[in-house]
Amino acid sequence: MTYEETGVDQTIDRLLREHPGLDAAADGALDDLDQFHIGGADAVDRLIDSLDLAEDESVLDVGSGLGGPARQIARRTGNRVTGIDITPAYVDAARDLTFKSGLHDLVRFRAGDIAAFAPDPPFQAAITMHVQMNVRDKTAWFAHIARCLVPGARLAVWEVCGPSRADPPWPMPWSLDGTDSFVVTADSLHASIEQAGFTTTEWTDETAWVQTWIAETLGGGLPAGPALPMLLHDGYTRVVNYATALGDGSLQVWRGSFTRDAF
Ligand SMILES: C[S@@+](CC[C@H](N)C(=O)[O-])C[C@H]1O[C@@H](n2cnc3c(N)ncnc32)[C@H](O)[C@@H]1O
Repeated sequence: MTYEETGVDQTIDRLLREHPGLDAAADGALDDLDQFHIGGADAVDRLIDSLDLAEDESVLDVGSGLGGPARQIARRTGNRVTGIDITPAYVDAARDLTFKSGLHDLVRFRAGDIAAFAPDPPFQAAITMHVQMNVRDKTAWFAHIARCLVPGARLAVWEVCGPSRADPPWPMPWSLDGTDSFVVTADSLHASIEQAGFTTTEWTDETAWVQTWIAETLGGGLPAGPALPMLLHDGYTRVVNYATALGDGSLQVWRGSFTRDAF
């Protein structure tokens, strides 16, 4: 199975010790390490715009990974963010990085499955980035997210889709061998999100933007400092396979913004 790395926080500590000039609290300092999706911090900025956050609104990050997107939202907007993730080692690392970044008053994480989460009060906004590919029943998954939100809440997504039955080369960032990958077409994913109780504001193919981002960000070689593949089993192969599949059209990235319907 994927996401079975352990001691991720200890690996991060070692990497930071090896790069003593890196200020982990500085804006953007860990962007190569803690953004577990294609498009990095730039992709998160695109989602933040569509959340249209007002002061004091709270944000849920579903499948928050190492917490990079959650911390970025808090840093940019000043809003409170709660991340939930099913992998305890990632949650430990997300908490540790949040403390190091000084954002612990605004950002918190809990370990668990969104299916069992019933927040009170519910959130005014949510994001989910590169998670639903691991979920077979996408309508149920987005219905669980809807249940955590107030009517009218905004949802922003950054998702991997396949133009047809996707069978890319494994491993991929979300799956080591394909057995826990459930990539569907953009039309199918879009329909699942709407069936789960959301109305579409925007549903856009961002593959061309991502291809440009890859060329500009990775074209000059690997980053010099701590980077996400250093934390993951077979990390570099996963990134290279993913970039290749996005380049040859086997996979796409779609961005969506939605509002939660009043039930
Ligand atoms: C590719 S990572 C993306 C992490 C983060 N969204 C980001 O973009 O940096 C996918 C994450 O989804 C989490 N995940 C998978 N299934 C989940 C579920 N049912 N509930 C919560 N988290 C889940 C994994 O543990 C992993 O951290």
